[in-house]
Amino acid sequence: MIRKIDVSFEQIIGLDNIKNKLEETIIMPNLRPDIYTGIRAPPKGILFYGPPGNGKTLLAKAIANQIKCCFFNISASTLVQKHLGEGEKLMKALFETAFQIQPSIIFIDEIDSILSKRSENEHEASRRLKTEFLISFDGMQTSDQDRVFLIAATNRPQDLDEAVLRRFTVKILIDQPEFNARIAMIKSYMTNVQNILTDQQFQSISEMLQGYSASDIRAVVKEACMQPLREDQSLIFSIHKQDIRAVNKEDFDQAMQKVKPTLSQKQYEEYVKHFK
Ligand SMILES: Nc1ncnc2c1ncn2[C@@H]1O[C@H](COP(=O)(O)OP(=O)(O)OP(=O)(O)O)[C@@H](O)[C@H]1O
Ligand SMILES: [Mg+2]
Repeated sequence: MIRKIDVSFEQIIGLDNIKNKLEETIIMPNLRPDIYTGIRAPPKGILFYGPPGNGKTLLAKAIANQIKCCFFNISASTLVQKHLGEGEKLMKALFETAFQIQPSIIFIDEIDSILSKRSENEHEASRRLKTEFLISFDGMQTSDQDRVFLIAATNRPQDLDEAVLRRFTVKILIDQPEFNARIAMIKSYMTNVQNILTDQQFQSISEMLQGYSASDIRAVVKEACMQPLREDQSLIFSIHKQDIRAVNKEDFDQAMQKVKPTLSQKQYEEYVKHFK
């Protein structure tokens, strides 16, 4: 459950307000628990939500890297077990352990897959898992002094059970990157690749990447950087690395023809209006 994670806050581009907020709600309270008590006590749960591929998982990993406490990284699939009752036992054990060795953070990624809205015809096991989650989460709240913190991430907030949602007092939208963040991303993804793009061309590429997620942008940059290698593949074996043609604006134009954003404008708006 606990693994060495090497994602730093600097690697995450854009999202500056969010990083500051996390500093205040998680990192500082973790370093100075004596100050952040009473009315200043941090929230018990944070939910990251928003369109896929914009850094929800990345942020949680960066937090794990920054703090000096136990970090339980649990994927939803481990909690969905074959045998009836196993999943809820695991959930219970997880919260108990986190409580015993606090300060600790529990991170549940893709939380929608286990804690979706309750329905008439759902499986007994999944209903019990939800109940156990609600009980365990409330159990965590017994006192101000307790330092168990829950982070969850989802790209389907609309599917989450209301009772679960209500327990996350802080909900943070991890949105698609804006204009300047997109430029920074393009530059950072191609640091080791030669290019002859002017500032103006970077800007116009960023303009055209409106509506792309961070991982879509990565795909576009990758595609553009592959173009010079595709022109004459027979040369690949003999060419010197420094003689490879630099990436230009046309490469990006072609890449954007091939790589389209994951979400349409309409699908994206569905996300953003949530919780507002
Ligand atoms: N803010 C960012 N800065 C730099 N790279 C990013 C950023 N956000 C996403 N990426 C890139 O996109 C990839 C996917 O990001 P991540 O796994 O955090 O997305 P996610 O929001 O958790 O998506 P999902 O909802 O599908 O789980 C990362 O590995 C990284 O390469
Ligand atoms: Mg994720």
